[in-house]
Amino acid sequence: MENAFQKDTPKIFMEKPIWWKDEVVYQIYPKSFYDSNNDGIGDIKGITQKLDYLEKLGITMLWICPIFTSPMVDNGYDISDYKGIQPEFGTMADFDELLTAAKKRGIKIILDLVVNHSSDEHVWFQSALNDPTSKYRNYYIFKKGKNASPPNNWRSIFGGSVWEKVPNEENMYYFHTFDKKQPDLNWENPILRQEIYDMINWWLEKGISGFRIDSITFIKKDQDYADVTPDGADGLASVKHKGRNRPGIKDFLTELNRETFQKYECVSVGEAPGVTYEEYDQYIGHNGYFNMIFDFHYADIDVESGSEWFRRTNWQVKELKDQIFKSQEAIQRNGWGANFLENHDQPRSISKYINDPKYQNDIGAKALGTLFFFLRGTPFIYQGQELGMKNFIRETIADFNDVSSLDNYQRSMLEGFTSKEALEFVNQRSRDNSRTPFQWNASETAGFSESTSPWLKVVGDHKTINAELQMEQEDSVFYYYKKMIQLRNSSKYRDTLIYGEFVPVNTNDYIIAYERIIDTETIQVVINLRNQASFIDGISGEILLNNYSEITCERNGLKLQPYQALVLRKDKNHE
Ligand code: NOJ
Ligand code: CA
Repeated sequence: MENAFQKDTPKIFMEKPIWWKDEVVYQIYPKSFYDSNNDGIGDIKGITQKLDYLEKLGITMLWICPIFTSPMVDNGYDISDYKGIQPEFGTMADFDELLTAAKKRGIKIILDLVVNHSSDEHVWFQSALNDPTSKYRNYYIFKKGKNASPPNNWRSIFGGSVWEKVPNEENMYYFHTFDKKQPDLNWENPILRQEIYDMINWWLEKGISGFRIDSITFIKKDQDYADVTPDGADGLASVKHKGRNRPGIKDFLTELNRETFQKYECVSVGEAPGVTYEEYDQYIGHNGYFNMIFDFHYADIDVESGSEWFRRTNWQVKELKDQIFKSQEAIQRNGWGANFLENHDQPRSISKYINDPKYQNDIGAKALGTLFFFLRGTPFIYQGQELGMKNFIRETIADFNDVSSLDNYQRSMLEGFTSKEALEFVNQRSRDNSRTPFQWNASETAGFSESTSPWLKVVGDHKTINAELQMEQEDSVFYYYKKMIQLRNSSKYRDTLIYGEFVPVNTNDYIIAYERIIDTETIQVVINLRNQASFIDGISGEILLNNYSEITCERNGLKLQPYQALVLRKDKNHE
């Protein structure tokens, strides 16, 4: 088949197979996964108890969101002791037990590394705050204000100024990219950097397989700390302009890699928002800072800026397709990708990417699964995605827990939206959507806990969407994910699906199709991403996966049903 894009496809980045390319990662938000002691909060023992389930699904590695000691203002992304375990999650002995039990099943574990900031309750910060002469003051960023105002007009990611006034000191402020209870660590200080590297190596020595590295592009700030033209009704300007992926970050990231990850057989997955495709070589190339990074371009297709939810877009499938192709080409040209549809900061994918509620069902969940799972890179599945879990609709802002949801609600109203509109934005985008208790069964608390008051309310659709039910139904979303994992990792197409070149296929505006190619073997992935039938020409071959029970051949091609997804082995005669 003629492929309009093929001649432009850049040279593929090739290197020896490396273990982490073969993994299928499952992301766990521990607070919401399984509550083993019925206090309403998920915990580490809960993960250990559900390893059978994870093994059955077929995933090979877990990424567990922060389990370290924390006041939990941002659910663990505010760490007060990097080597301690948060008591509500369990103990270090529980973690060691999980590590061993997972290893027995061939499941590796990576943890979350949160080193752009700590909690304000960390002893370092407490010393820094209470004693201006303490060496710890230089572990953080303290600055004098300007004319009785904060040092500059940068807005934090969770709203309000990045500067918080130091109590009992005149005209002194400390810096926080996120919440005021998450003060930024001062990466300009080599002593602080060494402390961080020692801590990272301590965990790697313990036998974990690596890290997902949180917000890492924020560690370098423009040292002029100059004002920026305001970009909102609050008179502030996003910290992203001068506090994210800024010149000079290269030195920090090179050193971080050299002093830690490079010394171990581990994987490093960077959460690196703000990195342009031109910079991918530095981030994931041969001597890149990380093994892979997440690309947020199409995850945020529904909002102009990932952190301000009232700026909604009217995106079209064609744009989604273009963005996925652009992303894949950049990844392929430079290194390796960390592909995902969902995570703990995003709404559920069926609710985001499928506009017609009629298809926010098994068909839609499988279609989206197919779309992302066979892209070139390591797939990351977020808990509940393998069941097709969906967003909730909350009637009041009081039902939200997420710190950024509360901020976005206020910001929306400040920008002139009504409280009803503000609530709608938050319902659509809230990070709580993906943090609701995992739906294990149809019981009142969805089998997450025997406590009738889990820390966050359930979505409410667990009678029809839950793991127990899906494990009894051969055609469930769960089994579809299991089949996708088998096809990628254990079938004779493994090499093609893991290492094969990614090649976009030219189709109409509603179909997204691509090929994975090695030598003479070609696997085609085709998804009709709309609620009407669509035709595609020039596709034929053995069907390896289909989210419908049938396929209609018409004319010289296929008639795809609404949201139909197929994986085919391309006919060798049909070039
Ligand atoms: C990104 C994390 O994924 C998010 O959950 C957190 O709020 C921020 N970084 C701050 O650590
Ligand atoms: Ca618990």
